[in-house]
Amino acid sequence: MYQNILLQQEQGIAHITINREAKLNALNILTLQEIKQAVEAVNKDQSIRGIILTGAGSKAFAAGADISEFVNFSTTEAHKMSSDGHAVMNSIEQSSIPVIAAVNGFALGGGCELAMACHMRIASENAKFGQPEVNLGLPPGYAGTQRLIQLIGKGKATQMLLTAETIGANVAHEYGLVNEVVPLEDLIPRCIDIINTIASKSPIAIADVITCINAYFETGKNGFDTEINAFANAFGSKDFKEGTEAFLTKRKANFER
Ligand code: COA
Repeated sequence: MYQNILLQQEQGIAHITINREAKLNALNILTLQEIKQAVEAVNKDQSIRGIILTGAGSKAFAAGADISEFVNFSTTEAHKMSSDGHAVMNSIEQSSIPVIAAVNGFALGGGCELAMACHMRIASENAKFGQPEVNLGLPPGYAGTQRLIQLIGKGKATQMLLTAETIGANVAHEYGLVNEVVPLEDLIPRCIDIINTIASKSPIAIADVITCINAYFETGKNGFDTEINAFANAFGSKDFKEGTEAFLTKRKANFER
């Protein structure tokens, strides 16, 4: 069904792997569309509680948008490429189930932007991050200028975006670009651990928290009001009934998606 990604489902977790290892998992348009389709399909599957997004092999998460594909694009085609790419990133960010980027090597340009659209980033020790677009005569096109500021602040983001310098996993951790750095062999197991922890919580509340976090960054939305409404609505949910009843009767809550 998919040409450029692998989608595997195991024990309640969907693993999406960008599968263009020979091209360092460069993100051509089809690959990005397939990632969006997979995230949306998995969101409809009640048995799945989280998504791990990674790159095939041990060298790259994704080395950016596919330069050979866009090299001859007109400004009109480039506008579509960028706005479609933004839609892909938004669909990941708005996923109701958590998406973790397991960054297993180069995350450059579109690869860094893709990782930043995920809810969390765990990096292997060999991971490298950067926004090298200015080397190509371009600004980033998949929201790198916006999400990098959100994650690491204006000063450090400006330096990374203007110098095009690549940073290693430990600096990315120090900057807050990644949550944790682990040896490569522990990368997927650590992401599975995090999703399993989240999977024991209320899926309705998890989706609400994601919505509230996103509202903080969305123009025209008031995150405080979003939270008040989400909190109030939760009082009518089956998860609230289950969670409070479990607490009061001293048993473990059993939430179903
Ligand atoms: N788009 C298209 N192809 C890419 C690519 C990209 N963003 N990144 C890597 N590739 C391809 C290379 O062209 C090469 O293909 P080939 O074997 O058919 O020639 C293959 O992937 C391996 O890459 P290579 O450059 O030989 O590996 P390296 O280890 O010498 O260098 C990088 C690794 C990541 C430093 C280098 O590939 C690079 O700078 N990539 C582009 C990064 C970038 O500018 N991204 C932003 C794009 S907007």
